[in-house]
Amino acid sequence: MRHCMSPMDFTVEELDRMMDLASDIEKNPDRYSHVCDGKKIATLFYEPSTRTRLSFETAMLNLGGKVIGFSSASSSSASKGESVADTIRVISCFADIAAIRHPKEGAPYVASVHSTIPVINAGDGGHQHPTQTLTDLTTIRSIKGRLDGLTIGLCGDLKFGRTVHSLISALVRYPGIRFILISPEELRIPDYVREDVLKKNNVPFEEVIRLEDAMPQLDVLYMTRVQRERFFNEEDYVRMKDFYILDAEKMKLAKEDCTILHPLPRVNEISVDVDNDPRACYFRQVQYGVYIRMALIMALLDIPEGKPFLGDDFQKGGMNHEV
Ligand code: CP
Repeated sequence: MRHCMSPMDFTVEELDRMMDLASDIEKNPDRYSHVCDGKKIATLFYEPSTRTRLSFETAMLNLGGKVIGFSSASSSSASKGESVADTIRVISCFADIAAIRHPKEGAPYVASVHSTIPVINAGDGGHQHPTQTLTDLTTIRSIKGRLDGLTIGLCGDLKFGRTVHSLISALVRYPGIRFILISPEELRIPDYVREDVLKKNNVPFEEVIRLEDAMPQLDVLYMTRVQRERFFNEEDYVRMKDFYILDAEKMKLAKEDCTILHPLPRVNEISVDVDNDPRACYFRQVQYGVYIRMALIMALLDIPEGKPFLGDDFQKGGMNHEV
C-alpha cells in the first residue's frame, strides 16, 4: 500500500504518468465518472481549508465515489483528546482512503503508520503540502508544456510556506531549473531546504529581497501569502504582511509569457487588478488541482482504469511508506 506524504514519494516517471492521467481526465471526464463507485474518501481536516478539502471531495465525487469527514478539530473527537493514531484506525473501518491536514508537522505520517488505508498528507504545519505541489507541477506543465529549463521565482513567506518547500523539492529533479527566491530577510527559506535540497542537488538559485529585480527574468512567478497563523507574535506579522504586493504596474516588468501562480488563499499580495491579466493563472491552478487529485486517488486505490496511463510498475517506484 502506498501513501502520499511528500512529492518525493513518487519518481519523476510516476509523476509524469499521473499528470498524463490528469490531462486525460480533463479531456474525457465521462470516462472516469464511475471508476470509484462504491469507494469513500475521508477528509480529516484539523486546520481550516477551502481548496484542498473541497478539491479532494470534488475529485472523489467526480470519480463516482462518496465523501465523509470533518472540517475542524473542534467538530471531531480530537477535541476530547483522541490521538491521530486512534482516529485513523477508526477511519480505516469507514473509508477506503483518507486525506489529512494537521497543524503539526508529521501528523499525517503518524496516521499513515497506523492506517490500513492509503493516507494523503493534505498539509502538515509548515512542512509539506504534496498535493498542492502536484497541482503546481500539473499547472506549469499544462501551461508551459514542460517542467525543465525554467526560471522560477518564489516570492513571499518562504520560511513557513509549506507549498514552497514541497515545490522546490519536486522541481530540483527536473534539468535546467533555476530559482530566484524573493523574500524579506526574516522569511528566507529554511536552512534544510537551502543546504539539503538546493545545494546538494547543485541547483542554481539566488536569494533577493526586491521583487522588481527578479521580475524580468522569470518564466513562472509563484506568489505566497504571509501566513498569520504561523507567526508567534502579531507585531512581526503586521510588519511583514504587505511586504510584497504584485499589481498591474509591476506586471509591466514581467515577460509576456510569465505565468503567475499562487496556491491561494491570497490576502493583499496579488492585487485584484492582476486577475484579468492573461498571465494570471491562479484560478486555473485550482481547476488543475481537481484533475490531479482524481489521478492521485485512482493511483493510490490502484483503480484499473488508471493502469493504461500509470503503467503496471506504478506501485513499485518512489519512496514507500509501507507498514
Ligand atoms: N492552497 C490551499 O492549501 O488552500 P486551502 O488552505 O484553502 O486548502
